[in-house]
Amino acid sequence: MNVLFLGAPGSGKGTQSKKIETEFNIPQISTGDLLRAETASGSKMGEDLKKIMSSGKFVSDELVLKLVSKKITSDDCSNGFILDGFPRNLSQASSLDVLLNDLNVAIEYVFLIDVPTDLIIKRCVGRITCDTCGKIENEYFSDFREGDSCGEGVYVKRADDNEETVTNRLRVYSEQTEPIIEFYEKKGILHRIVGGEDGPERLTEEIVTIIKN
Ligand code: AP5
Ligand code: MG
Repeated sequence: MNVLFLGAPGSGKGTQSKKIETEFNIPQISTGDLLRAETASGSKMGEDLKKIMSSGKFVSDELVLKLVSKKITSDDCSNGFILDGFPRNLSQASSLDVLLNDLNVAIEYVFLIDVPTDLIIKRCVGRITCDTCGKIENEYFSDFREGDSCGEGVYVKRADDNEETVTNRLRVYSEQTEPIIEFYEKKGILHRIVGGEDGPERLTEEIVTIIKN
C-alpha cells in the first residue's frame, strides 16, 4: 500500500504519517526529515540546505527526487511507503509518476489534511520533536516542553518554526503546492481530511477507516 500526505506546514502530515506507519507497518518517507538529517551532518551541502530551509523556500527538485528515489527503491519499502512532504510542486508530482511507473507501483491514497490557517502558526511555533525517535508533540496542547525527555531522546524545536519562516512557508505552499491538489483530484485518489481543534486521534480514525474500506 502506498500513501501520500498533502497539506500546509503544520497541518499534521508528520503526526498522521507516524500513526499510519505503526498501524500498517509501512515506512514514512519525510523529505523534511531527510533534509534535516543532512543539515545535522555538518557537510557543506548541509550548510547550504540550512540556509534555504530557514528561509522557508524549497530546496531543488533534483535533490529531493534523488533522496526519495533512493528510499522508495530500498528493501524497506517493498510492502509500501508513506510519502510526507513530497511532492510539493507539479514538477515533483510528474517526476514521481515517472519513477513509480518505472517501478510498476502506484499511489493508492492521497490524504489532504485541511486545517484553518489561523491554527497553523500556533501548531508550528509550539511544535517540539524528539531528537531520537522523531515523536512530535506541541507545547500548547500537551504537558511536554522543549528539553523534556521523551523516553528515548529529548524534545527539541525546529529552526524553521518561528513565526516569520512559517509565514513564508505558508506563502510558498499556496503558490507551489496547492496546484497539485487538483493533479491528484483528477486521478480520483484524493481524500480531504478536515482537521481543526480536535486532536490527531479523530483524523487517524478517519484515515484508517478509508484505507480499510
Ligand atoms: P517539512 O519538514 O516537510 O515541513 P512542512 O511541510 O512545512 O510541514 P511540517 O513538518 O512543518 O508540518 P506537518 O504537516 O508535518 O505537521 P506536524 O505533524 O509536525 O519541510 C521543511 C522544509 O524542507 C521545507 O520548508 C523545504 O525547505 C524543505 N523541503 C521538504 N520537502 C521538500 C520538497 N519535496 N521539495 C523541496 N523542499 C522540500 O504537526 C505540527 C504540530 O501540530 C505538532 O506540534 C503536532 O503535535 C500538532 N498537531 C498535529 N496534528 C494535530 C491535531 N489534529 N490537533 C492538534 N495538534 C496537532
Ligand atoms: Mg512534518
